[in-house]
Amino acid sequence: MQPEFLIIHQQVATHVAHIQLNRPEALNALNLQLMSELKDALKALDADPQVRAVVLSGNEKAFAAGADITQMAGKSAIDMYNTDQFSTWDAIKKTKKPLIAAVSGFALGGGCELAMLCDMIVASETARFGQPEIKIGVMPGAGGTQRLTRAIGKARAMEMVLTGRFITAEEALAAGLINRVTPVALYLEEAVKLAKEVAVMSPLAVKMAKEAVLKAFDSSLEEGLHFERRNFYLLFASEDQKEGMQAFLEKRAPAFKGE
Ligand code: HXC
Repeated sequence: MQPEFLIIHQQVATHVAHIQLNRPEALNALNLQLMSELKDALKALDADPQVRAVVLSGNEKAFAAGADITQMAGKSAIDMYNTDQFSTWDAIKKTKKPLIAAVSGFALGGGCELAMLCDMIVASETARFGQPEIKIGVMPGAGGTQRLTRAIGKARAMEMVLTGRFITAEEALAAGLINRVTPVALYLEEAVKLAKEVAVMSPLAVKMAKEAVLKAFDSSLEEGLHFERRNFYLLFASEDQKEGMQAFLEKRAPAFKGE
């Protein structure tokens, strides 16, 4: 079934897929259906050997202005518990291929959290990042207190989470939250360019390297180093390792297959 709130493009030649959140009338507010469609789309792309990197964008005005407040406003704690919306987020988090967020305009609340769940963020000059949940009587629930704090440190995260203040793309870049800032006309192109740069690498090495970097967030240094070493050894079982090193020795470009 075609998703209602997503547009999915796939560039077979470059191995890059692009998912666009498409609920512009509500600034891409993340309702349950949109998140479920996103989970299904990412699961399918993760399983597709033609795809090596995924760009996730909204539109020029909004990446996403947060979880859908209309859908949440009347809910009880038990409704929230039974709905278990975060199981969708947990599934998205398991995506093995690299995810690159292309952010323009608002990335607020769940929108900021979704961008932070991606592995890299390219933003337009108009991007605004924020965790404004405090202004509507709640707090971040999809990683805002954890991923933001790890990315930009306690002082800045605390201020954003407790005051709901937005930060600009330039501030986000200086704080280490995002990778690049571009003029509005170029943010998507730049994100796709970054995705293509990753997509020419060995897909196996990319997945294992992503896994190892993410391990740094929830392990001790010793445990993380051990995990890294195992993945490093494991890659010597791949054709791509043979191809990559042979190509270097023969002074030619490698052709990686993901095997
Ligand atoms: C539902 C939303 C929405 C949201 C915007 N809209 N954000 N609908 N949920 N999060 C809708 C508006 O109601 C409006 O619909 C339309 O989008 C355009 O928004 P405006 O407010 O008219 O636009 P503007 O004046 O430009 O203001 C933009 C804005 C503001 C500053 C982004 O919309 C805003 O403050 N939005 C809420 C941001 C927020 O609090 N996010 C956190 C949500 S909680 P109509 O029908 O009136 O045209 C959250 C928890 C995450 O994310 C938990 C984990 C999932």
